[in-house]
Amino acid sequence: MKRQLGLAVFMAGAIFLVLKCNAAEKSLLESDKQALLDFANNLPHSRSLNWDANSPICHNWTGISCDDEGNRVISVRLPGIGLHGPIPANTLGRLSALRILSLRSNAIDGSFPLDFGGLKNLTFLYLHYNRFSGPLPLDFSLWRNLTVLNLSHNAFTGTIRTSLSSLSQLTALNLAKNSLSGEIPDLNLPNLQQLNLSDNDLVGSVPRSLKRFPKSVFLGNDQSLLDYTVTSSPLVLAPRDQGSRIKNVGKLSQNAMLGLVVGGSVVGLVGFGFLLFVCLLRRKADNDDDVFTGKLEKGERAISGGEDGSDKLAFFEGCNYAFDLEDLLRASAEVLGKGTFGTAYRAIMENATTVVVKRLKDVNVGKRDFEQQMELIGGIKHENVAELRAYYYSKDEKLMVYDYYTQGSLSSMLHGKRGENKTPLDWERRVKIALGAARGIARVHEENNGKLVHGNVKSSNIFLNPQNYGCVSDPGLAAVMSSVPPPVARAAGYCAPEVTDTRKATQASDVYCFGVILLELLTGKSPIHTTNGDEILHLVRWVHSVVREEWTAEVFDLELLKYLNIEEELVEMLQIAIACVVRMAEQRPKMSQVVKMIENMRPGEGSIPMPSSPGVV
Ligand SMILES: *[C@@H]1O[C@H](CO)[C@@H](O)[C@H](O)[C@H]1NC(C)=O
Ligand SMILES: *[C@@H]1O[C@H](CO)[C@@H](O)[C@H](O)[C@H]1NC(C)=O
Ligand SMILES: *[C@@H]1O[C@H](CO)[C@@H](O)[C@H](O)[C@H]1NC(C)=O
Ligand SMILES: *[C@@H]1O[C@H](CO)[C@@H](O)[C@H](O)[C@H]1NC(C)=O
Ligand SMILES: *[C@@H]1O[C@H](CO)[C@@H](O)[C@H](O)[C@H]1NC(C)=O
Repeated sequence: MKRQLGLAVFMAGAIFLVLKCNAAEKSLLESDKQALLDFANNLPHSRSLNWDANSPICHNWTGISCDDEGNRVISVRLPGIGLHGPIPANTLGRLSALRILSLRSNAIDGSFPLDFGGLKNLTFLYLHYNRFSGPLPLDFSLWRNLTVLNLSHNAFTGTIRTSLSSLSQLTALNLAKNSLSGEIPDLNLPNLQQLNLSDNDLVGSVPRSLKRFPKSVFLGNDQSLLDYTVTSSPLVLAPRDQGSRIKNVGKLSQNAMLGLVVGGSVVGLVGFGFLLFVCLLRRKADNDDDVFTGKLEKGERAISGGEDGSDKLAFFEGCNYAFDLEDLLRASAEVLGKGTFGTAYRAIMENATTVVVKRLKDVNVGKRDFEQQMELIGGIKHENVAELRAYYYSKDEKLMVYDYYTQGSLSSMLHGKRGENKTPLDWERRVKIALGAARGIARVHEENNGKLVHGNVKSSNIFLNPQNYGCVSDPGLAAVMSSVPPPVARAAGYCAPEVTDTRKATQASDVYCFGVILLELLTGKSPIHTTNGDEILHLVRWVHSVVREEWTAEVFDLELLKYLNIEEELVEMLQIAIACVVRMAEQRPKMSQVVKMIENMRPGEGSIPMPSSPGVV
């Protein structure tokens, strides 16, 4: 009795805390909203904004987007709204979580707003094509995350600030078409790839650090600036004639790749954009941050850009992502993992869209075959199959773009680090994951007249869809990739005995792999794991041996044993798993039958698993 009371008090406390947290976050969003309203109400604009105080700011307000949780405004994009006059003080400067600000192509005047100093997370700042005047801010170190700064086509005066050197993340700096004077300071900006200081009143000589840029970026200043020889550094990435740029690509991308691999996710942040930048030809359009024209129309297939069509990102129908290759090039990215067929990155675009980009290695088919396979894969629209959003093919690069799943893969949920804020996977969740994944694979098997093979079924390719059912990613790649012999390492645990290399995968071997996933869900163990005695155990063999000797509950994940009344289902699921991993491929059930078996575990309740309560201890 006492214990229950204690629990109740504890729960009440916890709920109170949760509510309090939510309230705090909501009030932050509320103050962001007020800041925006203050901005719009105090700065005349000739095009109207649909900023209705009663509509949801994160979804319905033109030009505004929020973080994933919908707690803070992180992006404000208002190009070409006809804003005129100075930015009212204490408005935008209050959006302390802001990462992207684009007010380009308006008629804003006055000086650079002092209170922007509070925007510590600012990463992209576009103020070009306005009438800003006065000096540049003195201390740029306030914006340590700044990656792109475009203040061109304004009337800024005074000198270029030495403090720009503190912007270690800066990749693009455009101060062209202002009235900046004095000498150019020696800017130490190792990541800078794009620079334009032309059409100002600059004098003196180009400092050493910037001599790697071509003279064209200093045109329209004092003639003396053009008296230098471009230093041939391997890092010359500023626009040049194309021939020389392309020649450098091979070597550079290798180095960059090395950086990515060595530095992992930390260095990767800048590395990816950089890497892609050097690998691909740049497109010249500048409607990147235009919320009004930048969107892909539904049904439109591809955005074309390059003169030779070599930098097309092909989107699938119904995909309304508003980005193109250019945005992808500028995205910051981190390495998510290296898989059988390549490396996956999480890329965060300027407009805060997050996607997963897979960079395939060893594609062994030509463009046509690749495209055909992508169209096949991208044509699969199913709630349990991760949707391929776009792909890219050039001689040197093959990319695939997928949605990003915030909860991570099943593998990380089951085998990742325990503790902190990790939600335990109860039996209900596991059943939903299994059922979803089974349906997804079954759907893949229907494709191409029932001949498509997934070829890479493993728990790190299973994610959760919004309803928390399993969702399979990466189908159909084996067919376009060079063969990979049975890996010695982790994926080996999934390999059906008859499969000797990845190109030989069949639907029956997919079923085998799915059986291994069921075993992972049931036992909580990795497909290959070591025991206390450092003996390497193959999950399938281990389960077989335990089950053969004598039926015990020993196989099941300890975490599951605290739930009551699920033993029967555990046993049933184990039988399904064992049926999937039988040695003889032709004896395995078809994927569609596996779906039925799982659904039939709970006759009468349809496909929706009913919640079972955690056991009272
Ligand atoms: C927000 O926008 C959606 C879709 O554009 C619309 O259906 C909805 O009514 C809007 N909500 C409000 C409160 O304006
Ligand atoms: C800035 O960004 C970081 C990382 O995304 C976040 O943790 C932090 O809360 C942000 N700062 C503000 C003031 O929102
Ligand atoms: C800004 O930079 C800090 C330190 O480098 C980092 O911790 C933070 O996550 C960054 N914020 C964003 C929004 O990237
Ligand atoms: C900055 O603005 C100029 C003028 O519109 C444009 O040509 C340039 O591409 C922009 N630079 C960046 C880095 O966005
Ligand atoms: C630099 O800016 C000027 C003025 O906008 C433009 O004419 C020129 O093409 C730009 N140069 C480079 C190399 O981007």
